[in-house]
Amino acid sequence: MTEAKKRVLSGIQPTSDSFHLGNYVGAVKNWITMQEENDAFYCVVDLHSLTVEQDPTLLRKRTLTSVAQLLALGLDPEKCTLFVQSQVPAHNQLAWIMECVTGFGEASRMTQFKDKSQKNGNDRTVVGLFTYPMLMAADILLYQTNFVPVGEDQRQHVELTRDLATRFNSKYGKSFVVPEPYIMKATAKIYDLQDPTSKMSKSADSASGLIDLLDTPEVNTKKIKSAVTDTGREILFDETNKAGISNLLTIHSALSGKSISELENEFAGKGYGDFKGAVAEVVVETLRPVRDKTNELLSDGNHLASVLKQGAEKASEVADATVKHVYEVLGLIPRA
Ligand code: TYM
Repeated sequence: MTEAKKRVLSGIQPTSDSFHLGNYVGAVKNWITMQEENDAFYCVVDLHSLTVEQDPTLLRKRTLTSVAQLLALGLDPEKCTLFVQSQVPAHNQLAWIMECVTGFGEASRMTQFKDKSQKNGNDRTVVGLFTYPMLMAADILLYQTNFVPVGEDQRQHVELTRDLATRFNSKYGKSFVVPEPYIMKATAKIYDLQDPTSKMSKSADSASGLIDLLDTPEVNTKKIKSAVTDTGREILFDETNKAGISNLLTIHSALSGKSISELENEFAGKGYGDFKGAVAEVVVETLRPVRDKTNELLSDGNHLASVLKQGAEKASEVADATVKHVYEVLGLIPRA
């Protein structure tokens, strides 16, 4: 008997004009691999992006650009279900239920909420930022998910999701699969090129440490060649003393498929300049077809719309069944 496929779900926010290299190497690269052997659901989480004020025209554009980028990077709608979160209303339905089983204290302990709300101050922090992890839990639990491929920064949210699933199951009977985070240690955190102790992030103060997938080869080459390194000369993986070089080794290895030790041997005796040039080449050559393909896909709105229609239909089928069950066990009366 063949074993049933495992369920996989993950999401990404459409909050900028391009995904960055951390998104790709830390998460989306695994999404692409995992669509082969699993029943995978991937969503562009536009509702999550509303926790920060968005310009409506820009949000529409960025949502479509996100979908196009995911396809250009290698997601195949024949192998996975790709959809936009707001097109599947079950996400909101289950999010409310999750809010009603989450303690105020445990939600207050989420580090992303603490960091972001501290940075912006109480008056500029919306309640949606506080309840963000419960919407994320709903995203995951709706699909009876086994594995959630994410970067390290999302681990705590997945752990909360596990707690909520376990709690709900023990109160109301088994309703959810308890999901596991799927985080590749080597690439779980890609660092900022200018500050290799902070993660690469679209909310960084300066864009000079961030590689946007859709940026031009010239801009990306320049950023990599100006990456901050140490004063030594050797190309060695040593995260404590050589954070910048180690980050570049991780990036090269993830994109070229060569192991870190192979790269250390290849660049033994060569300088940082040569090495940065090689990293820039691997990055630029990986991203060139992605940029071209994204633009091509964006010029065919009908194709994108049909991918999303099919995705939303497939996702709704699974998600609605979960909501139906959850409403029932909670004692909500179905509409006649
Ligand atoms: P988001 O949109 O911030 O990031 C998308 C994915 O990219 C990963 N990532 C990184 N990985 C390694 N190094 C980095 N520097 C780096 N920066 C970002 C993130 O860990 C993430 O996997 N809350 C989520 C979106 C979400 C979600 C979900 C994820 C909503 N619902 C359900 C999984 C399951 C977020 O804001 O990701």
